[in-house]
Amino acid sequence: MTRKPTTGAPPAKPPEALTEAEAEAELAALAAEIAEHDRRYHQEDAPTISDAAYDALRRRNEAIEARFPALVRADSPSRRVGATPGQGFRKVAHSRPMLSLDNAFTDEDVLAFFTSVRQFLRKDVEFRADPAASIAVVAEPKIDGVSASLRYEKGRFVLGATRGDGIEGEDVTANLRTLAEVPKLLSGPAPDVIEVRGEVYMRGRDFLALNARRQEAGEPLFANPRNSAAGSLRQLDPAVTAGRPLRFFAYAWGEASEEIADSHWHALQRFAGWGFRVNPETRLCATIEEALAFHRDLAGRRADLGYDIDGVVYKVDSLALQRRLGFVTRAPRWALAHKFPAERAQTRLLRIVVQVGRTGALTPVAELEPITVGGVVVSRATLHNEDEIARKDVREGDTVVIQRAGDVIPQIVAVVPERRPPDSKPFAFPNECPICHSHAVREPGEVVRRCTGGLVCPAQAVERLRHFVSRDAFDIEGLGEKHIAAFWEDGIVRNPADLFRLAEDPTPLVDREGWKETSIANLQRAIRARATIPLDRFVYALGIRQVGEATARLLARNYESLEGLRAAMAAARDPDGEAFHDLDAISGIGESVARDIVEFFAEPHNQTVIDELLAVGVRVVPVAASRAAASPLAGRTVVITGELERMTRREAKARAEALGAKVAESVSKKTDLVVVGANPGSKATKARELGVRTLDEAEWLALIDGA
Ligand code: IVH
Repeated sequence: MTRKPTTGAPPAKPPEALTEAEAEAELAALAAEIAEHDRRYHQEDAPTISDAAYDALRRRNEAIEARFPALVRADSPSRRVGATPGQGFRKVAHSRPMLSLDNAFTDEDVLAFFTSVRQFLRKDVEFRADPAASIAVVAEPKIDGVSASLRYEKGRFVLGATRGDGIEGEDVTANLRTLAEVPKLLSGPAPDVIEVRGEVYMRGRDFLALNARRQEAGEPLFANPRNSAAGSLRQLDPAVTAGRPLRFFAYAWGEASEEIADSHWHALQRFAGWGFRVNPETRLCATIEEALAFHRDLAGRRADLGYDIDGVVYKVDSLALQRRLGFVTRAPRWALAHKFPAERAQTRLLRIVVQVGRTGALTPVAELEPITVGGVVVSRATLHNEDEIARKDVREGDTVVIQRAGDVIPQIVAVVPERRPPDSKPFAFPNECPICHSHAVREPGEVVRRCTGGLVCPAQAVERLRHFVSRDAFDIEGLGEKHIAAFWEDGIVRNPADLFRLAEDPTPLVDREGWKETSIANLQRAIRARATIPLDRFVYALGIRQVGEATARLLARNYESLEGLRAAMAAARDPDGEAFHDLDAISGIGESVARDIVEFFAEPHNQTVIDELLAVGVRVVPVAASRAAASPLAGRTVVITGELERMTRREAKARAEALGAKVAESVSKKTDLVVVGANPGSKATKARELGVRTLDEAEWLALIDGA
């Protein structure tokens, strides 16, 4: 269908002036036209009209429907709600990642964190003179809601997004616009571009009133205020969001076209000046002890705040120090979430089941009589491993104390011995795989027992596939755990490449229960959308033992392409050769991890998996060039040795990595630069022997300052 340009089209009649027949015809045309635009937008990523023109079409549709309610079509765009999650919103890449926070549960954890912050910064005059020198921190309530990023250009609200996976979120601008606490225009002078971030939440009493209304209307109830806020924000119809009592606290920012402050505290003041609500409990604390006292105080007042919080967030106040501290993978080194103590409850342990993970690890899980802990129904808890069961002597039929903290899986803290049934027996951990019945062995020194079934074990195969499609790997939307298991069972998807075959030929899904034309098309689209994948995600998706996201990223950065990585891993099979040494030398990859990686790539079955993926059209691309790409260190291999005056080696390494360098622990021909501090050892000598360029501290500082 082609669309006439909006300009030049005859002005539409006001809805009141339409005859019923005209209205009916126009609604039919609008339904088709809007559906077509949705398809171009969501499925092809190639919209042909502006957002404003699209909104105008939807408004026109709604206005006519309001005038002629009897003519509302079954396929009207206004009725298209309840699509599968994530389907209805446009994806938006965050211009700066939306980070998460590391958690601490005790005062000791918090003190250890700030000790490590101080050590990182140790070379500062201040911290050298007084190793216990205080660092001012801002302490903020940790709001239990959903985070959102609000982009303002020239003071106008132009884009609002959910966090998503932190890299890419969903465009919920129209919904956020309905919140009274989201300014549409910033008051006072602001940078040309500023992204204000914070939490969308619901107050407790508003949540209860909303649920009461829903109960009356026979609608499903929300479990807690956070779910209620999340559900309300992700409505396809902004009018529904508008009717929900959502609020917003600002506490962070993303892209800013100019510096907004010199400290976090001042940044919050600027937010308030622009018209945002900043949490009134927020405190500027001169010392960590003061921040801990605030945590204790707030824990006592938690129930009186009127909204849910699950802890306190500490942020190093100085933005100069924040910049130096930087990030580790997903979380800043300058902030920490200090959670409130976990909530506990007692319930009966019905059964211990043993699950098999993708690497064959046997993990015991307790099935519990369902119980509400901190507002969430818990029916399973992890038991970690067989030693843990033996240590706590946990038995089926026992009454157990469970605890839940934040999003972590509930844990079994202890057994209540007085309530143990007289006939109970200690749990016998199986020595065979409960699924494929292969031997399950425990290597000396390991706590984990593993199924030796490898490729023949269906449980491992299913778990590997689940990992492959999971959020931080291929991130294939709409392919839940149940689907994967069922597809495997029925032989539809037995290996990763089968997924891409399914996208090309969905015959096995046709006539399958629960699958309709649209859901099949959506799945095909979701799979195809991921056929091009950055190397780090690809490596992570392979599910190599001991290779998490951070290691996958190191490999992607160091070897740059899949071909390069495969060739290097083939060469690294010789443990005494140069290639293995290079791998082992990457800072952050130890020998045991290096061995697992090499072993993985040497395994013919794994080679086939990779070859097949490439054959079915998966394209593995280098990790997206970041701001670091332009730096003089981008792609260079750097070794840091000796003692630096002005920064710790840890900080130097973090800075080098942030600028795109690969940091190695030993010097070889492949080393580009060696930064030599005081009292260097053999590495500096080796650099000179090999003719590798060396920098002293002043030269190093000049290099990174200029970058
Ligand atoms: S700061 C770079 N401050 O907690 C730091 N987060 O566990 C980014 N949250 O995704 C987050 N209250 O949804 C920050 N005062 C606060 C917060 C807060 C709640 C949430 C937020 C974030 C999550 C991380």
